[in-house]
Formats: sequence, C-alpha cells, structure tokens
Amino acid sequence: MGLNPDDFAGKPVIGIANSWSDLNNCNASLRELAEAVKRGVLLEGGLPLEFPTISLGEEFMKPSAMLYRNLMAMDVEETLRANPIDGVVLLCNCDKTTPAQLMAAASADLPAIQLNGGPRAISHFHGEPIGSGTDLWRYSDERRAGRLSDADWRDLEACYGCGVGACNTMGTASTMTSLSESLGMMLPGTASIPATDARRMQAATATGRRIVQMVHEDLRPSKILTPAAFDNAIRALLALGGSTNAVVHLVAMAGRRNIRLPLSRFDELARTTPFLVNLMPSGQHLMDRFHAAGGLSAVLAEIRDLLNLDSLTVTGQTLGENIIRARSFDRDVIRAREQPLAENGALAVLTGNLAPRGAVIKVSAASPKLMQQRGRAVVFHDYEDLLARINDPALPVDANSVLVLQNAGPKGVPGFPEWGSIPIPTKLLQAGVTDVVRISDSRMSGTAFGTVVLHVAPESADGGLIGLVHDGDVIELDVESRRLQLLVDDAELAQRRAAWQPRPIKHLRGYPRLYIDHVLQADEGCDFDFLRPSSDVELEFVQPVVGRS
Ligand code: FES
Repeated sequence: MGLNPDDFAGKPVIGIANSWSDLNNCNASLRELAEAVKRGVLLEGGLPLEFPTISLGEEFMKPSAMLYRNLMAMDVEETLRANPIDGVVLLCNCDKTTPAQLMAAASADLPAIQLNGGPRAISHFHGEPIGSGTDLWRYSDERRAGRLSDADWRDLEACYGCGVGACNTMGTASTMTSLSESLGMMLPGTASIPATDARRMQAATATGRRIVQMVHEDLRPSKILTPAAFDNAIRALLALGGSTNAVVHLVAMAGRRNIRLPLSRFDELARTTPFLVNLMPSGQHLMDRFHAAGGLSAVLAEIRDLLNLDSLTVTGQTLGENIIRARSFDRDVIRAREQPLAENGALAVLTGNLAPRGAVIKVSAASPKLMQQRGRAVVFHDYEDLLARINDPALPVDANSVLVLQNAGPKGVPGFPEWGSIPIPTKLLQAGVTDVVRISDSRMSGTAFGTVVLHVAPESADGGLIGLVHDGDVIELDVESRRLQLLVDDAELAQRRAAWQPRPIKHLRGYPRLYIDHVLQADEGCDFDFLRPSSDVELEFVQPVVGRS
C-alpha cells in the first residue's frame, strides 16, 4: 500500500465506503467527495482508506433497486466487520444506498457517519422548472392523453436530468438523507446542500474530520440509533410529507438495533405532527428552495416541542443543541407551525380485512375528495397484465373504480418494485380524470403522487387477501377511520381461499432465491429474517474492538 509504519501507527483507520459507480448517475459525484473526506481525515490525524461497495441506482436497476438493498447492507456490514477499520464514512445518495448503509452501520456498530452527494441542479422544460420524477409522471400522463407531442417529449428527455446528484424533489433520496440527519447520523445542515455547491465539499472535509474525533470518543451507532431517535425521524418524515418508502426503511433500520417499530407508531405520531414542507410531490417547490429556506434543521426547529431533543448525534451534541439557531427563512417553503399545510396526517396507516398487517397511504400527495371512497375493483393480476391493458379503450373502468395490482410485493416479483402508482387508464385521462384510488402490495416512487394505497401486507404471494380480489368486488377506503375493507362475504372469501394456489416461483437460484426465502413482509421492513439480531447478546457479540488497527 506504500505506507510507512509511521503513517498509520497509533492513528485511527477510517474506512470510506463509496457507493460511486458509472452505473448509478445519482452517485456520480461521490469520487470527488471522497477526496474531500480523505483531506478531513488526514487533517484530523487519521488514515483514510476508501473502499468500493455495490451501488444501487433507481433509474437503471430492474425490477427494482429495492431487491438489492439488503445485499448492499450485507456488503457494507461484512466489509466493516472483516477489515481493520476503526470508523467509517458512508457515502450515499440514490434512494436505497442511504438505508442500506445505515442498516449495515447499525449492525456492525463501528463509529459511523453518513454523507450524501446532494440533490441535482434544477433544469427547465419550456421555461418551467422540472421536478425529478414528479414532473416526469405528470408529463407522461399529458403525453398519454394526447396533449404533449413526440417532439415535446424529446425536448423533455433532453433536459430532464441535467447534472450530477439525486432527484431534486422530496422523493425517497432526499427523504432518506433528511431522515439520516434527523436520526443524528449526518452532520446537521448537510443533507440538502445542492450537489454542485462548494459547501458540499466543505461538509465532506468536516465529515472526515468528525469521524476521527468520533473514534476517539467511541461514539457508535448504538448510542445514536435509539427508540427516541427513530421517533424523531418519523416526526421529520411526517413534517416533510416525505416518501412512503421511508416507512419500510426506518422499520428495517430499527430492526437492526432490536428496536420494534410497528406501523401503528407511524400512525400515532402522524395524528399529532403537522405537515409543513411545501415541496414536490406533496407541494410545489424543489430542493434548492428547501436548502435556502433553512433545510431540515429549520423543519426540526418548527416541531421542536414534539422531538426528543436529548438524542445524541454524530456531532457529539444532542439534536436540541444542533438546531438551537435554526429557523425558516422562507415561509412559503417551510411553513410556520401555526400555518401548516395540514394540521396532521401526512401519512396514514390503514388496516382492515384487505390489509390485516397494514398498508400505507401518503395523504399529503393524495386527492382529498378520494379519502372516503367505495368502488368496484378493476384487477390487474401482475405488472405484465397491467401494462397490457391499462391503455385499452375497452377497459371496464370509470372515475369511481378502484384499481388493484396483485403480485407486486416483496416476494411476488421478487424485490418490492415501485409499481404501486398504477397509471391512470388512458380512457380516463382523456376524459379529464386525474386521480383514482389505487391499491397494491407494491411500493411507489417517493416522487409520485395520487390516491395510492401501498405496501398491503401480507402480499398476494404470501397468501394475502389482496390476491383474492376479483373484478367487480366492492372495496371501501376510509382514511379518516383508517379502514381498508373488501366487502365480500366470508363464505365467498373462504371458497376463494380454498381454491388459491401460490404462483410457481421463477427464481430457483442465486440472490433472488435467497431473497424470496428470507425477506420479511413490508410491515417488518423487508429485511432478511437472518439479518436481524436475535437478542441483545448477539448485538454485543458483533461489536469490534476499538483501535484494533
Ligand atoms: Fe436516484 Fe432519484 S433516481 S435519487
């Protein structure tokens, strides 16, 4: 390695887990950031050693980067466990890279700090700013409705993603990096710094310096990732109107510390947390405005009285100390507590016979008029069926229909893809309908919007009732009473259940096979059963020896 003994003797060895990859455009800036992190580590008297990890890019990976979140978590955890590293800087950006690294850090329990690549610059289409994902879905509907020409579509493609960085909406990437900061795993004020802003390089150097100090202080994730910290993250998610995917990831991360985070906890906190942040897809603005308005710290300051301010963070100080000077500089973007976008309930957890273990709806991005709806089901048996028929003028659908997608859950695909924001059928779009109730055992992009019920558990492939819905069945959605019910009598359902056969499993080997055999359902975070600690004793066992380098 070309190192003299004096170069490392007595110095903390700092791993830099870099999820940079040519296959992941969102993480393209992490190479440069790693150099700035190294500078910080050296300035503080540590020895930086960068290592590659697998990288998960939402835009290219099929069927879903989510299939590989647990694989990435294993890759990072085992690299930390196997090598003489005293502390680690986790470089993330695109959606799944953030929770995968935090799951790994929670299990390995070495001093760890996370740094993201930041949101990409805003580009413009025909003079209008484009929100990543959100505007793509919107213009895609316009195109299917015949209101956007092929030439316009090519213009949109040409300018859609101009620059390095993550989606510039409050999609899953920005939600997860904001939650990492809320949990106390990222330096305050850093999650929303734009990807190409010089302050991001400064944050990288500061992060490098800080991890060396954390090793000396023996400040580990086990001291930061507490039940109180997860409550703070849930409050932040709700105030942000953030991605539904965060629910799955937070449950998985908490599980790595033996912390049970039932879906009911999200619903409980949703009833008392105001929705404050006016960002796409729940609102109007983009991440550049969010950062200028004060970023996450300003949001946390607004809900200060709802937070566990004593929670320890990577700064070595408490969350309360970190946000002491924070305030909103733009009340249109980060609302005052007294003038929220909604008093509460950005997310809701639904139960009923259709989702006995729960389902999630992002109320902040749904249509108020559809919060209470009874309609007849139009069932798609899988994604291929959906693609084959959604644009069919003969599809028996109207504005009151409830679209149901089956076999799109964690085991069913496998991989729990983002197919849940079922496109509005073309014949409805042409009639001016912009939203209908949609239900699935799938997920949706954090950038998507609409009255979309997701993560139905148990899923179709696990014998869930959602797999037994027939065309024409009446489904009742009542968000106010948190109810999702299939209105079919019990005798008929018993008959259908008796006739139900699991679909043949296509994947007989390799990682997909491992995934199907061990993935937990959505309400348990979709981690692998064998990756959760079985007891506190096991957690103690995996803690490495400090300074072993
Ligand atoms: Fe990578 Fe949105 S697709 S951050």
